[in-house]
This record gives sequence, C-alpha cells and structure tokens, in this order.
Amino acid sequence: MVTRIRRIGVLTSGGDSPGFNPCVRAVVRMALYYGWEPWGIRRGYEGLLDGELGPLTSRSVSNIIGRGGTMLGASRSEAFQTPYGQREALRNLNERGIDALIVIGGDGSLRGAEAIDGAGIPTIGIPGTIENDICGTDVSIGVDTALNTALDAMDRIKDTASSHQQAFLVEMMGEKSGYLTLMAGIAGGAEMVCIPEMPFTLEDVAREVADSYVRGKKHCIITVAEGARPRTTEIAEYLQDRQKETGFGVRLSILGHIQRGGAPSAFDRFLGTRLGAAAVEHLHAGQRGVMVGMVEDEIVTTPLAEATACTRSLEEEYFELARMLAR
Ligand code: F6P
Repeated sequence: MVTRIRRIGVLTSGGDSPGFNPCVRAVVRMALYYGWEPWGIRRGYEGLLDGELGPLTSRSVSNIIGRGGTMLGASRSEAFQTPYGQREALRNLNERGIDALIVIGGDGSLRGAEAIDGAGIPTIGIPGTIENDICGTDVSIGVDTALNTALDAMDRIKDTASSHQQAFLVEMMGEKSGYLTLMAGIAGGAEMVCIPEMPFTLEDVAREVADSYVRGKKHCIITVAEGARPRTTEIAEYLQDRQKETGFGVRLSILGHIQRGGAPSAFDRFLGTRLGAAAVEHLHAGQRGVMVGMVEDEIVTTPLAEATACTRSLEEEYFELARMLAR
C-alpha cells in the first residue's frame, strides 16, 4: 500500500561531511515542489529521540548551498541503537505526523534508516561520509571535498618537507577505509601509502624511506590512514630512531577533522543536490527502504538492507598504481 505523504522529515547523522547542506536544501525544496511539508530533525537520531523537530521553509535553507557542516546538526547516537531508543524515535515521528523520512549519513545512519523503514515509516537513505565505504554508489557526499582538502595540505607539506629533506607522515581520516589515504597518495604524489586494507610492517616503511633517499628524492611523503596498523605515531617513532640509516629527518602531521570541514566542492554540491532531489522523487513515486546513489553518473537505488550489509572495497589496482608511480 502506498502511504499518502503530507509531511516528510529529514535528518543528517554520524560524522558530517561537506555537501550535507546542499543535500538538505534539495530535499526541502523538492518536498515543497511536491506540495509536502518538510520538517527538519536536529542533531540526527539523538534529536529525533529528544523530539527536536520542526517545520522548514524554503527560506530556512537559503544560502546554505556553499556552507560546510550541516545546518541540522549531527550526532552519533548510542541511545537510538537500543529498542527503547527506536520506540521513542518512532513515537516522535508519529506524534508529529511525519509520513516519510530521509536520512543523510554513513553506514550506521543508513542502518538506522533501515530500522525506521522496517518499523513502518517509509524511509530513504542518502550516502554521506568522507570514508567512501558505502556500497551502491561510486562516491558518497563529502569525499571529493575531503580529498581536495587533503591534497591542498599535502602540497603545502611537500614544500616544507623538500626544503628540509624530511620524511613526512600525513595521517588522513579513515578508521576502516583507506580510500582517502590511497587516493590522496596517488593524486598528491606520495612515496608510500599505508592503509588498513594492505598489511605493512615498520621495516617496510623504513626501507621505502631509505630507498627514496638513495634515489635522490628531496622528501618522502607517506600518507597513513587513521586506521592503519602499525599506527602513525609508532611509524614516526620507529623512523625517528633510524634517521641515520634512512637519511631523512621525520615529521608527522595529522589532518583529522580538517578534512570534514570547509565549503563543499562543486562536485559535492552537485552530488548532494542530485541525491537529495532524487530521494524525494523516489518517495513521491512510492519507493521506500532504499538508498539513492550515483553509479556511472546515473542515479540508482539499492535496498537499504543490501547497502548496509556490504562495505565498499578498494580498487587494488590503485594501490599498485601508487606503488609504481612512487619511483
Ligand atoms: O565519519 C567518518 C569519520 O570522519 C572517520 O573517518 C573518523 O574515524 C570518524 O568519523 C571520527 O569521528 P568523530 O567525529 O566522532 O571524531
């Protein structure tokens, strides 16, 4: 049975990423286009539990298209993962007459969307995370901006590393996924890439640094994912103790949340806008329980259950490419 929609809710959840705002804007304006009432839920699932929701107008989303962060706020909610939390969330949605929901976020957020859809409120998910680990889309909202931010930092680091002939460990976000680290390594011209998906040892890193010195390089840039083991700090200590053998001094820079902030790139504004609009259109067409994504520039849908059951894997040939070009 197709539910008649009058009022739809939108929330952003988990770690924010640049492009959430253009996506919220598109959801709100497309909902208004269909004559629906868009409601914004503050602070993700946490705000939903606490009943922090209210109507949005076209003006509420004016001038957010170029802003980083999320105007709705976001959170990682442990309470929502409990049966009590989910009951409260549903109660708040039903009490406010929200007929359908759009959730923007990463894997945990999409699992929440799946639960709400399963409990009876038509829900559509939109992938937004800088980790790019969501299946059913070539790219998630925020990845492009985060990558550009990382590249800008790497270019700057390279300048100073070359002046001082240093080995530089540049840590990127990505607890489980090495996507950003690998792509930044390739596009930023790193000498080595250390990611959770590809095992490496401290000796491997020291060998690479020493080889770079012997090959006459003025710097040795190593991108390291937050989730790589051994950790960035362990690698730094190990290399520091071996400066004489490797030839390079060692420095470490952790980019961290800098990659999550900042104005969304043109690509992320466009992606957020397309996916936000598509989510509303799919609800309008009677679809639910799916995630909208972009594959080969086409909007596609994947059942939420399928999207959340899988983790997007890295293209191994890119790892090889990074290795081959680091000569
Ligand atoms: O959302 C993804 C992410 O940015 C990860 O890359 C990182 O490990 C994590 O969030 C950091 O989370 P928090 O915002 O809670 O510090």
